[in-house]
This record gives sequence, C-alpha cells and structure tokens, in this order.
Amino acid sequence: MDSEKNVRINLVSSQILRHKPYGGVVPEIASRAHLEMISPLVAKAFEETQMEPGQIDLVAATRGPGLASSLLIGLSFAKGLSLSLGKPFIGINHLHGHLLSPLLSGQIPAGALFPNISLIVSGGHTLLLHTRSSDDYTKIGSTLDDAAGEAFDKVAKLIGLEYPGGPMVDTIGASGNPHAFEFPRGLSKHQNYHFSFSGLKTAIRYFLEKQPADFIQKNLADICASAQEAICEVLVSKTIRAAMDHGVKVITVSGGVSCNTRLRHLFEANCARENIRLFLCPPLFSTDNAAMIALVASYLSDKGIKPGLDEDIAPNLGF
Ligand code: KG4
Ligand code: ZN
Repeated sequence: MDSEKNVRINLVSSQILRHKPYGGVVPEIASRAHLEMISPLVAKAFEETQMEPGQIDLVAATRGPGLASSLLIGLSFAKGLSLSLGKPFIGINHLHGHLLSPLLSGQIPAGALFPNISLIVSGGHTLLLHTRSSDDYTKIGSTLDDAAGEAFDKVAKLIGLEYPGGPMVDTIGASGNPHAFEFPRGLSKHQNYHFSFSGLKTAIRYFLEKQPADFIQKNLADICASAQEAICEVLVSKTIRAAMDHGVKVITVSGGVSCNTRLRHLFEANCARENIRLFLCPPLFSTDNAAMIALVASYLSDKGIKPGLDEDIAPNLGF
C-alpha cells in the first residue's frame, strides 16, 4: 500500500485444496502452510512491485482473532522483517481489516463513508457495528451461535457439497427458487441486532431426513437458493433496521460472505428502496487478504497510534 492508500500488490496463497479432504480448516496444516509460503510470498511482492526494502514505511500483521499457530507465524515473520528493515511494526485486529476493506475499492468519495452501519460477515464472525470513523465504532449486534459463513458451510456439508461450501451454494443456488422451501429466519422477529444461524442447519437436517433418497439430487438448486435466502434475508433486514434506528444513511458490507451474489443483490435492492447509500466490499478484498491489514495500519499510523514490537498474538481478540 502506498501513502495515497492505493494497493500496490495483494498476494494470497490459498490453502483451500490442502484442507478440502478434511471438510474444514486443520490448524496444523494451516500453520505449516503459513510457514512454507510466507517467505516466498513476501519475496514475490518485492519482486513484482520492484520495490526496494528501503521504500517500506511500516510493517503490519494480524495479531488476532484467529488460530494461534498461524497468527504466530505471521506476527513473528513481520516482526523479524521490521527489525531487519529498521521500520516500525504494528499488530492489527483482523476484524478491523474487514471493517475498512470496502475502502479498497478506491471509489468511495472522501467523507462519504462515515457514519455508517457496518455488517461484517465471515466464516468466523457476524457483526453489526455503528461506525463513526476509521477507528471509532460500537458493536451493536453479533451472532449468538454460528457465523453466517459457518452456516453456509454447514448447510453445504449437509447436502454433500465440498468445503468451503459458501461459494458453491451461491453458484448452484443462482438457478434455484429462493422460496421453494421456507427455512427459519433466526431471530428475525426480535427487535435486537443479534443473529442466530444454528437453528437453520438443524431445521434443514430434519427436513432432509424426511425426504426420499434422491430428493437432494433432484432439488439441489432450490435447496441452495432457499437456504441462502434464509441467511441473506435476515442479514439484510436487520442491517437496514439498524441504519434506520440509528438515523444513518450509509451501510457497508464486508467479509467472505459479502461475495455472495444473492446477498449483494438483496442489499442493492433494499438500500435503493430505503434511500440508503451502500458500499459493498469488492469481492477481491472480501475474503481474507493482506491489503485490508495494510490499510488499517496506514490509517492508525496517520492518527499517530504508536506501533510496537511488544505486541503479541491474541487468538481471542475482541472487537
Ligand atoms: O472472511 P473470510 O475469508 O474468512 C474469515 O475471516 O472467516 O470468510 C470465509 C467465509 C467462508 O465461510 C466461506 O464459505 C464464505 O466466507 N464465503 C461465501 C462466499 N464466498 C465466501 N459464502 C457465501 N457465498 C459466497 N459467494
Ligand atoms: Zn476474515
């Protein structure tokens, strides 16, 4: 990232193929892959941008929340790099990265983003925040059980799709009827901003148990579309209600699940109807990436927040 906050390079080493056979992330495999990939990836970033180490102002890494063994590798490597370059180091909250990631589109006019209601929907978190500036936010809601991405992945597993199932449900559901089956919308009638997705997975499991053997195969697109609708509808309606209740006319959506085509469409249609300005994170920066971490580091450094090598990993870091 340069001083104008433009992304110079954003490299991702995907581990999905390594975890696929196990149906989820295996911590030992994740940390080994981090160890193998981090050095060549950083070398490639220097090579492709033709930057000299002296051109770096600040080194940042995620300190939490996340898997301890993977965080440790990223943080230790970044601290080592910072020492060897003689540049400051700063540890960043992963969720702060998702929060500011819509800015990476480079298309948000100055002053247009705040205040807003921010929805962060990832594999590990579902959060609703009232955000007043890049580092001033209040959590107003979260999931009481499964995260939205986890719900997508669990539903996908139930119907026999491979990990991570979210993108598959999205693709297959595109040709299905979202109202073919009515699955529960967790906490949709409650006047709070919390979410609950574990009931959906259980409801779908009981529903499928009662069906004939070839039911899933024959109704795959409709099942995907209907499950997706149950997740998306409640995310959209609660986020819009939060904006109205707080007198805010801007909504942002970020995190891996914000790639979802149906979620994006529902947000676009509903925000247009309610005259709310919507900033969706670009899909490229929705799933986990380094650019969003560099962006937060750059904002915090502009605000004079002191970096420090004494920052340790925090696997359960709150937000
Ligand atoms: O933000 P992220 O990359 O990692 C975490 O911080 O958790 O989010 C990953 C999650 C996974 O659960 C994945 O299934 C979900 O985002 N996801 C999607 C889509 N793309 C990724 N869920 C639904 N539709 C998608 N297109
Ligand atoms: Zn994430």
